[in-house]
Amino acid sequence: MYKQIGNLDIVLSSHQGKVRDIHDLGDKLLIVTSDRISAFDVVFPDPLPGKGVILNQIAAHIFKTTSHIVPNHFITDRVEEYPEQLQAFKDYLEGRSMLVKKLRVIPVECIVRGYISGSAWSEYQKTRSIGGLPIEEDLKESQAFARPIFTPSTKASEGHDLNISYNQMRERMDTNIAEFIRDRSLELYSWAHAQLREKGILLADTKFEFGALGNEILLADEALTPDSSRFWDLSQYQVGQSPASFDKQIVRDYLSSTGWNKQPPAPHLPDDIVRKALDKYRQIRDMIIGDNT
Ligand SMILES: Nc1ncnc2c1ncn2[C@@H]1O[C@H](COP(=O)(O)OP(=O)(O)O)[C@@H](O)[C@H]1O
Ligand SMILES: [Mg+2]
Repeated sequence: MYKQIGNLDIVLSSHQGKVRDIHDLGDKLLIVTSDRISAFDVVFPDPLPGKGVILNQIAAHIFKTTSHIVPNHFITDRVEEYPEQLQAFKDYLEGRSMLVKKLRVIPVECIVRGYISGSAWSEYQKTRSIGGLPIEEDLKESQAFARPIFTPSTKASEGHDLNISYNQMRERMDTNIAEFIRDRSLELYSWAHAQLREKGILLADTKFEFGALGNEILLADEALTPDSSRFWDLSQYQVGQSPASFDKQIVRDYLSSTGWNKQPPAPHLPDDIVRKALDKYRQIRDMIIGDNT
């Protein structure tokens, strides 16, 4: 099904995530973003042709424009600057890949939430807390917090990630590192939230990963893409309602109309749904990259 990486597997050792393929080059990694789409943790049989390039463009743009906040793993997305052994795959890699520094990843997902939604909303309704942290504010669904909050979770190698408090995260690592990744995550969120709001997108929440290289902590993985963030359309945002997801709603609405039970295998997506979903990804890319390149 994933024939795109067939050739690359011959020369490199690889890890295949739901959407991205990570190829190990020793001290560097090649991250290739495929056209695969997943919803409800299930990967679809049909790709969205062009989605990988769009997501890669967003991630590359973010790495190029946020290094004043925190340094990151990005080296280049120009295939001609990749190692010799990869040149034969230029046609496939062009536009959908980036070369990054290989780090020791800190096994925590650094989640920042500006608005209460998703699992945080469910937890808050039951316990008035998020990640075990009591929330004093009286909030309606999708309402903004007085200030964005940092709600880390463990990166589980199997099963679901576990929400932990900042204090639990700090117990797992050097205090300076815990503070650093928390503060940089909050700064990145605020920077992105302000930029995107002007373009008509609300960044409800997002997830960062960090890794160590020697004594330095760098932003890793992907950042501020639709796959790692919850984007809402500002023009449709209303407190008390659950806003549509900017990028995936078309696919989700189609899935509900089919009555799919969310268990694999996922159904085929009709051509017009594929086309509309891709248009949304293009729109979000243009809003993010827009005129600040
Ligand atoms: N610079 C980096 N160095 C080492 N590992 C990285 C780096 N950037 C991202 N990773 C890791 O690569 C993996 C990407 O896999 P991904 O496609 O997200 O699937 P999954 O999260 O399901 O394993 C993650 O485990 C992530 O932590
Ligand atoms: Mg991941």
